[in-house]
Amino acid sequence: DAVERGEYRHYMQKEIFEQPRAVADTLEARIGPHGLLPNIFGIDSDALLQATRGLHIIACGTSYHAGLVAKYWIEEYAKLPVSVEVASEYRYRDAVVPASTLFVAISQSGETADTLAAMRESRRRGYLGTLVICNSPESSLVREADLKLMTRAGPEIGVASTKAFTTQLAGLAMLALELARRNGLDAGRYAALCAELQHLPRAIEDALQLEPAIIELAGEFIHRQHALFLGRGVQYPVALEGALKLKEISYIHAEAYPAGELKHGPLALVDENMPVIAVAPNGPLLDKLKSNLQEVRARGGRLIVFADGAAGMDDMAGHGAMLRVDSGGSFIAPAVFTVPLQLLAYHVAVLRGTDVDQPRNLAKSVTVE
Ligand code: G6P
Repeated sequence: DAVERGEYRHYMQKEIFEQPRAVADTLEARIGPHGLLPNIFGIDSDALLQATRGLHIIACGTSYHAGLVAKYWIEEYAKLPVSVEVASEYRYRDAVVPASTLFVAISQSGETADTLAAMRESRRRGYLGTLVICNSPESSLVREADLKLMTRAGPEIGVASTKAFTTQLAGLAMLALELARRNGLDAGRYAALCAELQHLPRAIEDALQLEPAIIELAGEFIHRQHALFLGRGVQYPVALEGALKLKEISYIHAEAYPAGELKHGPLALVDENMPVIAVAPNGPLLDKLKSNLQEVRARGGRLIVFADGAAGMDDMAGHGAMLRVDSGGSFIAPAVFTVPLQLLAYHVAVLRGTDVDQPRNLAKSVTVE
């Protein structure tokens, strides 16, 4: 055990630091200087992807959050409608399936009972076909899907998923690009997005350098009972994932909100005892997010802002804290901004003395309903 963890105190920390490699491996031989290589989703993928007019993405837990990011990407770049749903809900309701919809399952293990049952159920619902993004080549999901893209995160031991998530994002980014290319995305834009994606391992490497600053921040959370995570647009799922990480391993109650919803409820909770963590890279919604954060500040909430140095952000945190993250571009930003949130959850949990790799009541793979 100690040998496998090497210099790291827990598997989770090791796996967080393996992300540049895991993402590079996942992109390897799939994306090159001229864009995506052919047939990366399987030899039969061409006809199915060409015919795809919409997607239903199904997953659980962290994998569900990856699906939510993919919805923003696919709708923005490929202009195809995407719905994302947790598997335990999807499998028991009468989902309407428009013609030529592709069913997409996302799973680290490929054995999550609800996700597997949802995919089996999808066979009776008239989809164009099934695609799985998975980290376990021998798994049931992979065996049963029509198309597949394996993430190459390697074994993930920590129950709280980290490198599986960022490699799923790498896989889903390639899916978005593949669909965008077939659906009229401008060639120059396509090339620029491919180049940005290839830079992701390096951008994650840079984000990992924030660890010492995050260790300092983590001290503030030792005696907290609640935390609120905010993001907008494609960063909203990142906020959800940050909150999930914190609750899973530190047992601090954490919620995530799209910042525009603040006024519709959670603002009532904000006072000096409520840390508010904002994921705020530059983008079209940054000004709106800023005004949401001003409302938190006005109520004495302690703000922790992760931003990438966009103009006017420097004093946003007020008496709180501001950490600079270089996003590497707005396409890959969700994967990059996830990293400091993983580190924050990890170090808070370490300080609180929880069983980081094996949090109470949780399992790595939920193979029963
Ligand atoms: C469990 C794990 C999570 C994981 C989820 C879905 O809850 O603790 O980390 O995200 O299952 O697992 P899957 O293997 O389908 O991605």
